[in-house]
Amino acid sequence: MQIITTKEELQAMVKACKAKGKTIGLVPTMGALHAGHASLVQRAVNENNVCFVSVFVNPTQFNNKEDLAKYPRDLQRDADLLHSIGADFLFAPTPEEMYSAEEMNTTFEFDFAGLDQVMEGKMRPGHFNGVVQVVSRLFYLVQPDKAYFGEKDFQQLAIIHHMVERSSMAGTFGKLQIMDCPIVREETGLALSSRNERLSAQEKQTALAISQTLFASQKWAKEAGATVASVQQRVIDTINAVDGLEVEYYEIVDQTTLLPTDTFRHAIGCITVYCGPVRLIDNIKYE
Ligand code: PAF
Repeated sequence: MQIITTKEELQAMVKACKAKGKTIGLVPTMGALHAGHASLVQRAVNENNVCFVSVFVNPTQFNNKEDLAKYPRDLQRDADLLHSIGADFLFAPTPEEMYSAEEMNTTFEFDFAGLDQVMEGKMRPGHFNGVVQVVSRLFYLVQPDKAYFGEKDFQQLAIIHHMVERSSMAGTFGKLQIMDCPIVREETGLALSSRNERLSAQEKQTALAISQTLFASQKWAKEAGATVASVQQRVIDTINAVDGLEVEYYEIVDQTTLLPTDTFRHAIGCITVYCGPVRLIDNIKYE
C-alpha cells in the first residue's frame, strides 16, 4: 500500500490507474479506524480494481474546537489495518494541503434542500457544509467509480446522495455510485464508532441501553395503537431513565426527505445521546 500526502501525487496515481482502465473505489474516513471502517474498505477492495482510502480529520466540519482537538488520531495504526485489508492507496493530507487559508475560514456554501436543517444539522450548525466541502473535493480528486459510506451517519449519507444527484446533472462526478453500508455493531449491539474509544468500561456498559431500546422500538411500532409520536416518546423516556444517558434528540423521519413522518413506512429513527461527556449517535429502520 502506498501512502500519499499531496493532491498532486494523488491525481497522478488516479490518472495512472484510469489510463490502465482500472475501476476505482474510494472510502473517505477521518481515521481512528475500527471494524466498521474495515467493512467498508473490504467491500471497496472486493468491488473495484483499486481501492483508495482517505484519512483526514476535516477541520471544517467541526463546530467545536475541543472536539476537533480530542478527535483520536493514529495514522500508523490506521495504515497497518488498511494494508492488512488490501487497500492500494492511503491519502493522508494535512489541512493546509487540502485547503487554502480562506477556504479554512469561510463556510462552504451549498444548497441542501433543507436536509441540513434537521437533527445533526440543527445541533451542529455548519457541520454538513464542511462534510460536503471535503467529500466533493475528494470526489473531484479521486474520480471514483464507487464511494463507500456507513449508514450510522444516516443524515450525512442522505446529504451525499443529494449532492451527487445534483452534481451529476452537471456531469461533475461522472457515473459515481454511492454505496450505502449497514451499521456494524459489537456483539452487544453497540454501534461501532471512533468515539467509543472515549467511553470508560462503565460508560460502555451503560451505552448498551441505546441500541437495546432502538431494537425494542421496532417491536413497539407493531403494537396495536402505536403511533410514530408514541414510539418516539417511549424511546426518549426509556433511555433518559437510564443513569448516565441523556437523549439530545430522537426523531423518526422519512428515510429520503429526513422530514417528520406519521407512518412507519420507509421511516428511520435517528438518535443522539450523551453518555457521560461522549456524544453517541445511532439509528434504526422501521419498515
Ligand atoms: O463520516 C466521516 O468520517 C466523515 O464525515 C467523512 C465522510 C470522512 C468526511 O470527513
